[in-house]
Amino acid sequence: MAGVPAPALSIAVGRAGGLAACGAVLLEPEQIIAWAEEVRRGGCQAFQVNLWIPDPTPARDPLAEERVRAFLGAWGPPVAPDAGNATPPDFSAQCEALLACNPIAVSSVMGLYPAEFVVQLKERGILWLANISTVAEARAAEAAGADVVVAQGMEAGGHRGSFSAQDAEAQQVGLFALLPAVVDAVSIPVVATGGIADARGIVAALALGASAIQIGTGFLRCPEADIHPAWARALGHTAPEDTIVSRAFSGRAGRSIKTDYVRAALSDSAPPIQPYPVQRGLTASMRAAAQRNGDVQKMQAWAGQSSSLARAVPAYDLVRTLWEEVQQTLA
Ligand SMILES: Cc1cc2nc3c(=O)[nH]c(=O)nc-3n(C[C@H](O)[C@H](O)[C@H](O)COP(=O)(O)O)c2cc1C
Repeated sequence: MAGVPAPALSIAVGRAGGLAACGAVLLEPEQIIAWAEEVRRGGCQAFQVNLWIPDPTPARDPLAEERVRAFLGAWGPPVAPDAGNATPPDFSAQCEALLACNPIAVSSVMGLYPAEFVVQLKERGILWLANISTVAEARAAEAAGADVVVAQGMEAGGHRGSFSAQDAEAQQVGLFALLPAVVDAVSIPVVATGGIADARGIVAALALGASAIQIGTGFLRCPEADIHPAWARALGHTAPEDTIVSRAFSGRAGRSIKTDYVRAALSDSAPPIQPYPVQRGLTASMRAAAQRNGDVQKMQAWAGQSSSLARAVPAYDLVRTLWEEVQQTLA
């Protein structure tokens, strides 16, 4: 999970028998390599590293950005004129770092890896797990050489893995419909993700044809995730309808708690939200201040629809307990 690249969480999940993961979109190449070294030192040899496939550089609108800066200034510190210039790390250099780490698998989201990178993965025997959110995306991923597709239902916390930034909201499919449709459409294994946080969800996903399960929000209250306590507490009492998909934090659609800031940013009187990564840069000072002040209403509080099922227990125990509960349910 980007923004939560806590090695301790990955190590615990890996040692409990899960596949440890790193959301590396915001990490510089040397940070990706350092993460992999730390996780290996922690006793977890099998892990996967995830990157976002970059969108084309967005067109800028200085006047609209000025309105957003003024709006955000009422929610946090004044926003610097150049705040929207923040750019993510270089994608090609991140891909090189992935190869240097030699993980068991890499995963992609928001699109597909370039063909030449896929060739390099295959040469090294590194598996490619492609996140998809529609049947068409699943077919495209299989055709491009993905070894596994990860079907992300619209219940999911964090960013929507839509290949098209423009269509992310319009193409929201729930996991109960998406999963069997994807299983029927491709011949590679399908991992289910989105709104799964307990044994009931895992068993349901297996019944719908999933080969494995991916959990995000369900791990956020584990101490190893080390998120702000105010966010962790809020997750525990957030009902499904209290989450919402918006572009308010980064400019890319993502599901978070429906906080005061998100409601205001989506109101009719709010200025137009800027594209990724401009909006991300513009909201950075508000998000940082909210972290310092423990104000969840202004925090980037990602949350899936099953947020309230997340348990505040160590991640190793959570994985083992979930697995035992699944075995009991299946028996
Ligand atoms: C805080 C957070 C950060 C995430 N970052 C990423 C990411 O960088 N790459 C990615 O493919 N998915 C990311 N996701 C989405 C997860 O991979 C997964 O699809 C989602 O968490 C599943 O839904 P759930 O949260 O209901 O379990 C993130 C999710 C959360 C909650």
